[in-house]
Amino acid sequence: MLESKDVVVVPESTQSLPLFPFFCAPSLSLLLLLLSYAETNRVHTSTLTKPSLIHPTAAVHPDAVIGQGVSIGPFCSVGSSAKLGNGCRLYPGSHVSGSTELGDNCTLMTGAVVGDDYPGRTVIGSNNSIGYHAVIGVKPQDLKYKQEDECFLEVGDNNDIREHTSIHRSSKSTDRTVIGNGNLIMGSCHIAHDCKIGNNNIFANNTLLAGHVEVEDNVHTAGATVVHQFCHIGSYSFLGGGSVVTQDVPTYVMVAGERAELRGLNLVGLTRCGFSSAEIRNLRTAYRNLFMRVDANAGSLEERIAEVELHEELGHVPAVRAMLQSIRNSFAENRRGICKIRHWNAS
Ligand SMILES: *[C@@H]1O[C@H](CO)[C@@H](O)[C@H](O)[C@H]1NC(C)=O
Ligand SMILES: *[C@@H]1O[C@H](CO)[C@@H](O)[C@H](O)[C@H]1NC(C)=O
Ligand SMILES: *[C@@H]1O[C@H](CO)[C@@H](O)[C@H](O)[C@H]1NC(C)=O
Repeated sequence: MLESKDVVVVPESTQSLPLFPFFCAPSLSLLLLLLSYAETNRVHTSTLTKPSLIHPTAAVHPDAVIGQGVSIGPFCSVGSSAKLGNGCRLYPGSHVSGSTELGDNCTLMTGAVVGDDYPGRTVIGSNNSIGYHAVIGVKPQDLKYKQEDECFLEVGDNNDIREHTSIHRSSKSTDRTVIGNGNLIMGSCHIAHDCKIGNNNIFANNTLLAGHVEVEDNVHTAGATVVHQFCHIGSYSFLGGGSVVTQDVPTYVMVAGERAELRGLNLVGLTRCGFSSAEIRNLRTAYRNLFMRVDANAGSLEERIAEVELHEELGHVPAVRAMLQSIRNSFAENRRGICKIRHWNAS
């Protein structure tokens, strides 16, 4: 990792900078200023394979650690405890502050803000794109939080976080907000303090997750989904547009509605994710036995779970067992239970 003193400022005449249109049409006097500024700052060029390009109007603290091949556009700021990995690109007017680390190849679009100066830390992995005016790794919106407490956010690799999204740090030093890898978080989403988000999820725009929400993997939320604090969302589930989710969503299912109710299995998602037709058939049978029994001796949910578990065929299908476990977990102490079943034939 290179220290920031190795950073050079190179004007358009010696390096092409397609990233920043600002460079392309400077006035003559500005160009001359850039050239003379560059003359005095090019001392380290020969020692570098891939110099970093820092626009003269960017405020980069001398103690910031800047990797190779980083470009920092006009009017950006990078704080003293910031660390930018190789190949990071900061579009004009984006900001990195506080104790904040970006891995390699991260892109901050115009107006993106990553980290803030409160105690704690924000760590972002590699290959993440942070959209226009997204605000990532700032202090939580939680009355429990005290100004002197350390708070944390960790983001993995290959996430696409779109415009206006906000992701907050934990509310306590003993917890952290975590985002895994390969998530697509569309515009104007909110991920609150202490949420734990897994991998390869897609949150459509305006998905709002309250504090301490846990989302496993391969979950898809449609637009304007809101999730109550402390809910768990199981893998491969689908949350319909406008859902208000106030209880857990078991793995593989679909929920929808303004008190979200179970609406069957997420068949489209399961097929897309490569579940075999045999697995899907078994899951459907299990779902029917769990949630669609109308006979008088159907028993409680707990009894029906036990019945499916003991079923000579279903009980041995790993996907079915995962669904049963997911439901059981939701009824453990301090958990919220699962969304109610939708009864179409209610008279
Ligand atoms: C960053 O991008 C370069 C060029 O595409 C690639 O060689 C490198 O492996 C990437 N770094 C990481 C950590 O993915
Ligand atoms: C980042 O992206 C590059 C190019 O797409 C890929 O080769 C690399 O493995 C990715 N890095 C990580 C850490 O996933
Ligand atoms: C919301 O998301 C949809 C895709 O699900 C997209 O087509 C649309 O442009 C988005 N709208 C906004 C305002 O981001």
